[in-house]
Amino acid sequence: MREPGVFTVDIERGELRGAATRYRKTLGDLAGLYEDDAAFETRLAELGPEAVMYEVTDHKPSADAGDMIIGVTRMAPGRIGREFFLTRGHIHARADRPEMYYGEAGTGLMLLESPEGEVRIVEMRPRTLCYVPPFWIHRSVNVGADDLVMTFAYPADAGQDYDIIARSGGMRQRIVDDGQGGWQAVDNPAWTPRSAEAIAALKEPAR
Ligand SMILES: [Fe+2]
Repeated sequence: MREPGVFTVDIERGELRGAATRYRKTLGDLAGLYEDDAAFETRLAELGPEAVMYEVTDHKPSADAGDMIIGVTRMAPGRIGREFFLTRGHIHARADRPEMYYGEAGTGLMLLESPEGEVRIVEMRPRTLCYVPPFWIHRSVNVGADDLVMTFAYPADAGQDYDIIARSGGMRQRIVDDGQGGWQAVDNPAWTPRSAEAIAALKEPAR
């Protein structure tokens, strides 16, 4: 039997106080994700490769089926060229595992893409609860002026496959400045559909 856990969502710091594990993604880690390479290089020169773009503090009691991972993510605000700061994004390695995200602070989006290439966009604000269904690729985007802080929970055996996005030339849509203080979704011309075989492989029952 495991012991119950008690943690505090520290909204100011954007972290789960008491959580044992933390990881950070720096600007240097995100090379190749944005549409505008020149703007990325400019940002890299301005902020340095070690600038923290987002971080996750979480409680991973185990990787057992039926167990759960809980945590908090904090994303910095900003843009690379016209494109808002984003997370790397993934599908779960066991693709039939879902996830939930709960908005704590800031304004963002959950950008979702199905294996077949359908796109859904969920606006995240404080007290928004987003259900990420099984089989959807998901990425967070900070479209606000402040840190985006969200609490999340997902099955402990879900895992992450980050490469699925790169294999299709990025996600199908990008979230960019609309020139009027807001955001808009635009098609990514480099995106290529997944093959029927690739889709079928994703949907094979997970162990
Ligand atoms: Fe996930």
